Amino acid sequence: MASEAKYWDEQNLDTSRHFCALGSFEPSISAKKFVGHLVEEQRPLRGNILEVGCGIGRNGIWLMEQGFDVICVDFSKVAINAVEKRAKALDIKANLKNFDISRQWPVNKGSQDYVLDFMTSFLLTLPKLKVYLQEVSRVLKPDGRLVLYTLDRSQDTQAQKLLRERPGPVSEPNTYVMPGMGHLERALTEKEIPQYYAPFKLESCELIPRPTRFGNEIFDKYYWFAVLKK
Ligand SMILES: C[S@@+](CC[C@H](N)C(=O)[O-])C[C@H]1O[C@@H](n2cnc3c(N)ncnc32)[C@H](O)[C@@H]1O
Repeated sequence: MASEAKYWDEQNLDTSRHFCALGSFEPSISAKKFVGHLVEEQRPLRGNILEVGCGIGRNGIWLMEQGFDVICVDFSKVAINAVEKRAKALDIKANLKNFDISRQWPVNKGSQDYVLDFMTSFLLTLPKLKVYLQEVSRVLKPDGRLVLYTLDRSQDTQAQKLLRERPGPVSEPNTYVMPGMGHLERALTEKEIPQYYAPFKLESCELIPRPTRFGNEIFDKYYWFAVLKK
């Protein structure tokens, strides 16, 4: 874990990465979609959220400001320190946890209404994803939801090309090795989401076109915003 967390420390410091623009704490489309979804479903805009892989906290802090009780989790100390600094500047008391989501979580059973997983568990290998899903299920309340924002491969031609040209190991289908970085990423179709995230059941799923910058290039990428129930 230490070396993986260190790798993400470096990524979280790199301001050229689209997902961790240090200095920009604008919430992502996924966080705004999450709140929009609750409004549409007429669910209360409050509750306990655990955000896995919170990065520098652009979403977690915004959700705290909207009135949610949020636990921000990341195994990167750089990320957690950035959230802490930002929360302090805003005079917000943040609940931060520095642990690896592919091991047992130091979080109470049945304590969370939502686990938000924005661009995080697509990085986990299948054995790690299995432990992760057991822990998500354990910490969620009986009617809790896992909310995913993750990579598509049905429309996303960049993901399709990477899957063809830089496939991950045979034991990790639908993954590729991210160029210039070196970690594995999984890209799924809508049908595969409930297969990979079983026993969670897909409640809703929306494909979101979103041009995304990698270094100096912009790609026409597509992402899934999916809500899954226990
Ligand atoms: C692609 S970034 C997404 C950041 C954030 N969710 C966002 O949308 O801005 C992935 C984040 O997950 C964290 N991460 C990756 N694997 C993890 C693991 N096994 N346990 C905890 N955090 C992890 C990384 O440190 C990084 O901050």
